Amino acid sequence: MAILEILTYPNPILKKACAPVTDVNDELRKFLDDMLETMYQNAGIGLAAIQVGRLIRAIVVDIREDERGSSESKVHKLINPEILEKEGSKKCEEGCLSVPGVREEVIRAEKIKVRALNENGKKVEFIAEGLLAICIQHEIDHLDGILFVDRLSKLRRTMIKKKLNKLT
Ligand code: NI
Repeated sequence: MAILEILTYPNPILKKACAPVTDVNDELRKFLDDMLETMYQNAGIGLAAIQVGRLIRAIVVDIREDERGSSESKVHKLINPEILEKEGSKKCEEGCLSVPGVREEVIRAEKIKVRALNENGKKVEFIAEGLLAICIQHEIDHLDGILFVDRLSKLRRTMIKKKLNKLT
């Protein structure tokens, strides 16, 4: 497995929209494993392909534990993920490996119904709640060129961008 380079704000690639995956093959499966390894290496809980420079609709998620504190790790490798239904709303603090050093509260749906292909190209559908739901919404945003800071108020966004521009 390989550790990939994570692109960070303000890299313009992060603003691009990603194309659907048309062929789920061995090369893609290897790439998803590399993404997962890269995510673990950087202590992240989710990563989108675009964050390592590949403009395809693929994400990996492993929140390590659920809201009830269960430590059962569940890896999600989702290809062409879509949100079919959303329910409720919840404010939760988020961070992003592409926006290092920033954590901000974002409002997301509390519960979502997700459809995607798994790494074998099989269609899967499931309900996600809590941190898993938030993480999947954050990663799907990446596929449309949206960073979590883009979801903040204009004032907050301007402040954060000023801070980040000073750092870069
Ligand atoms: Ni992110």
